[in-house]
Amino acid sequence: MKVCIVGASGKLGRYMVQHALDRGYEVVGVCREKSVAKLDVFKDRITIVPGNTNDRDVIEAAVAGCDGVLTVLVPWGVHQYSSGTAQAVLDYARPDARLVFSCGWHIARDGQDKYSLLFKTIVGVAGALAKFARLVDLDDQVEACRRIFASDRRWTVVRGSDLEEGPSEGLPVWSQHVGDPILKSNRTRRTDFALFMVAALEDDTLIQQAPAIVGCRTASALAASK
Ligand SMILES: NC(=O)c1ccc[n+]([C@@H]2O[C@H](COP(=O)([O-])OP(=O)(O)OC[C@H]3O[C@@H](n4cnc5c(N)ncnc54)[C@H](OP(=O)(O)O)[C@@H]3O)[C@@H](O)[C@H]2O)c1
Repeated sequence: MKVCIVGASGKLGRYMVQHALDRGYEVVGVCREKSVAKLDVFKDRITIVPGNTNDRDVIEAAVAGCDGVLTVLVPWGVHQYSSGTAQAVLDYARPDARLVFSCGWHIARDGQDKYSLLFKTIVGVAGALAKFARLVDLDDQVEACRRIFASDRRWTVVRGSDLEEGPSEGLPVWSQHVGDPILKSNRTRRTDFALFMVAALEDDTLIQQAPAIVGCRTASALAASK
């Protein structure tokens, strides 16, 4: 399988590169020019396409011939970075390609997600402050996901809980709706978020799903498995 990882140089991206190589996949990584050195450890084993992830020419070249595209959706800046990236992937990936996108629990899918007041307050306040400072535009990540959800492509949007570093605990468990008891622990190892993204490439049950994930060894996941 040939996969493109859009946003390969970030923390999540580098974990995804490692998991993809572990599976024997051919990997093409897209990252900003200034971040290419962050991929030095992989440089003899992957193809790197430097450029902004919302540059349509960069994405068109990078996804050519790929069976799957793993995209780190990040709402940096106030220039449609997330929606530009998602749209380019939707437009240029092969029609039959598996498309897997990352985001957080704050992305709602179908109106049935249930958020605590604390969660809504944190997202609302942090989002407004970050947008005011022109650092981050959460609304654009929402718009990116709206376009993905509306598309008829073979997509999966993986909604991550709060993240932590540490060795893998195994493939996260998931639920269709934020607020379900299994997700209560709200904690996933970042390497396992990446593992879920890569595993989704070959899991057709996740097509057109937006799984909200949580670590499989967390208290809420273990309680749900009893
Ligand atoms: N952090 C969390 O707690 C959390 C929780 C739930 C879900 N998520 C989701 O996980 C994904 C990434 O999470 P992460 O925390 O692990 O981050 P990450 O992997 O470090 O990803 C950050 C990405 O953003 C890029 N980036 C950084 N600054 C940028 C800028 N100014 N302009 C354009 N691109 C920039 C980075 O590229 P460079 O290498 O070029 O800097 C990298 O590709 C996102 O989809 C996020 O919604 C995160």
